[in-house]
Amino acid sequence: MTVETKRIVIVTGAGIGIGAATAKAFGVLGDHVVVTDILKREGRATADAINAAGGSAEFRLYDVRSTAEADALVADIEERHGRIDVIVANAGIAHRTPLADLTDEKWDLTFDIDLKGIFRLVRAAAPGMRTRRSGAVIALSSIMGVAYGWDEHVHYSAAKSGVVGLVRGLAVELARDGVRVNGLAPGYIRTAQLLSEENSLGPAGAEKAAEFIPMGRLGTPEDIADVAAFLASDAARYMTGQVLVVDGGLLVGRY
Ligand SMILES: NC(=O)c1ccc[n+]([C@@H]2O[C@H](COP(=O)([O-])OP(=O)(O)OC[C@H]3O[C@@H](n4cnc5c(N)ncnc54)[C@H](O)[C@@H]3O)[C@@H](O)[C@H]2O)c1
Repeated sequence: MTVETKRIVIVTGAGIGIGAATAKAFGVLGDHVVVTDILKREGRATADAINAAGGSAEFRLYDVRSTAEADALVADIEERHGRIDVIVANAGIAHRTPLADLTDEKWDLTFDIDLKGIFRLVRAAAPGMRTRRSGAVIALSSIMGVAYGWDEHVHYSAAKSGVVGLVRGLAVELARDGVRVNGLAPGYIRTAQLLSEENSLGPAGAEKAAEFIPMGRLGTPEDIADVAAFLASDAARYMTGQVLVVDGGLLVGRY
């Protein structure tokens, strides 16, 4: 397949973690993957790994906090590849900050990346998707956005809840134009974010969590990537406005 006949997939925050696994999953499916991140080395490595495995990928330095960069990225990809078929809006941060230290700046930073960052890219790509009457967007929420409250992370919980509203609103507004918008709410997934002692469970806390997850283990980035691939596929053609929980049974099993 030439790039022209492949689906064009943009993944944000694809240098490491869930984003990297997702980019690789689309690479295996034969798509052309636009790997984006603020981490240059890691982003390049993801794109290189996809190409080395026989897939097709390019790396683009892209900060989801910039409207100008979002617009430029979309314009460049549409000019060179003709379209954007799939967006996986994955980039996110989860900084531990007790309420007493939660300044406006810290609140705004998390919202700027975790919520507005998704909006910016979809706003830029929506006109092209609507014109072609085709497109799929997958946005990353969290179990902390759909069900749990997370102490010392209220800005994160609020932003990830906001993703649910964003997904629903966009889904309805774009449905008649053939564009689907869905979300993913991962549970505890083994990534740098989860294993951060400073900002999340840390290695010991993560192992402890594995004990009370009904499936008996933490999630892997690939566990999330495969569901993202499903949501982007024709198998999910009648699904829009939904946020799927992928958590090994955590939410339904913890009582
Ligand atoms: N790991 C989990 O257990 C878990 C659970 C629920 C939800 N999530 C969500 O899944 C997504 C991926 O999480 P992860 O665990 O792989 O995190 P991670 O920290 O391992 O990776 C996050 C990626 O986002 C990128 N990023 C951060 N700020 C950015 C910016 N301004 N512009 C562009 N890229 C930026 C980082 O460089 C990194 O590549 C996040 O939205 C996260 O909130 C993760």
